[in-house]
Amino acid sequence: MAWQTYYEERKISSDEAVRHIKSGNRVVIGHACGEPSHLVDALVSHAEDYENVEIVHMVAMGKCEYCQPGMERHFHHNAYFAGARTRDAINTGRGDFTPCCFYQVPQLFHTTMPVDAALVTVTPPDENGMVSLGVSVDYDYEAVMTAGITIAQVNDQMPFTYGKLIPVEKITYFVEHSSPIIQLSPPKIGPVEEAIGAHCASLVRDGDTLQLGIGAIPDAVLNSLKDKKDLGIHTEMFSDGVVELAEAGVITNRAKSLHPGKYVANFLMGTKRLYDFVDHNPDVLVLPVDYVNNPIVIGQNDNLVSINSCVQVDLMGQVASESIGTKQISGIGGQVDFVRGAAFSKGGRSIIAMPSTVKGTTSKIVPMLDVGVTVTTSRTDVDYVVTEYGIAQLKGRSLRERAKSLTQIAHPDFRGELREAFRRRFPDARL
Ligand code: COA
Repeated sequence: MAWQTYYEERKISSDEAVRHIKSGNRVVIGHACGEPSHLVDALVSHAEDYENVEIVHMVAMGKCEYCQPGMERHFHHNAYFAGARTRDAINTGRGDFTPCCFYQVPQLFHTTMPVDAALVTVTPPDENGMVSLGVSVDYDYEAVMTAGITIAQVNDQMPFTYGKLIPVEKITYFVEHSSPIIQLSPPKIGPVEEAIGAHCASLVRDGDTLQLGIGAIPDAVLNSLKDKKDLGIHTEMFSDGVVELAEAGVITNRAKSLHPGKYVANFLMGTKRLYDFVDHNPDVLVLPVDYVNNPIVIGQNDNLVSINSCVQVDLMGQVASESIGTKQISGIGGQVDFVRGAAFSKGGRSIIAMPSTVKGTTSKIVPMLDVGVTVTTSRTDVDYVVTEYGIAQLKGRSLRERAKSLTQIAHPDFRGELREAFRRRFPDARL
């Protein structure tokens, strides 16, 4: 059958489409800015028809109505990441959280978390009957490949990205609906972030390949890289900051040892500026997360520098990035994937960068992590820690050396307390 015939025959309305989802099903929703909001709205509007539908999602950028109070009989949210609109559900137990390195999520669809239905956003098909998952290929690709049924919102505003296209025959139903792609505004960068950015930039050399997390610190780092040459991108996600450096000729991807000349990511979050940049751009490869974030693949990039952030670091170098006490505030994301990938990379470095305090009142460098905190990056994996006060290089350093250099980059108001706490633990040691 010609792909055009298949596509035409499988076009239905959103109300018809969500009727194919049954009580007790596991439904994977397209990630981050790739969320098919029109389909999710239809699912929620039919909530009364369902009991115990499991909604599996990671960074949820939409309305998240399925996990609000009153929905618990119909939907059970199982998250890989907690965000502003899902934290409450996770921390009250109305929803749930599955700890998992990002690169391993697609594997779960073959093992403990088989997918009954995938809801994704795709572009209209190209002349060969292939659609693009656009800004979120990450786990969406494997969800489509393994799901019992896939319902795709065909959105002509989704940028067409290359790397991993899908033949229309892999999709069960199509719901055509044009709507703006969810956008992420650039963060506000203050003097603290600028200072952190400058310290991180001092660890970046011409020709390095970068992974940057999300938020003010990665953007501040990019601002400090304007004098570098031939930087490359192999990252979990990127945002508008990368476009600026690309247009300034700083990022060329020329020196990359893997995929030279190409930007490699598994999802994208930003404004229309970013989405226009990646649309039909043959230099941008948006690929599944089990490839991009696989530490072995990351390690094939020489001089890979990863930059991520955290909530707390203790004096031994244990990094907590996803919870405040027992409260889950985010997730592992790709932090550990890239910390370990950078360790495999010839000339690689990984940086954990954070402001030294929370709003000036609480030190983020602490003698011991708060009770209940989750260790994201272990002290065995950690490499550099950066604050606005400088750089602590921890890999290959003793506990005493770590405590000393972390104290030196703590906020001055807390350095005395940190030294005191170290002395209590190791009475005969000198810092
Ligand atoms: N104690 C108490 N509260 C703390 C805290 C601490 N030690 N550290 C941070 N917080 C609070 C902040 O005050 C803020 O609260 P608010 O939302 O009420 O203002 C909140 O936690 C988030 O902190 P903030 O520093 O604003 O977050 P961020 O946007 O810079 O993100 C992480 C920081 C750690 C949450 C984020 O980098 C993350 O999720 N990392 C793990 C995943 C990852 O690294 N992925 C990498 C690839 S994208």
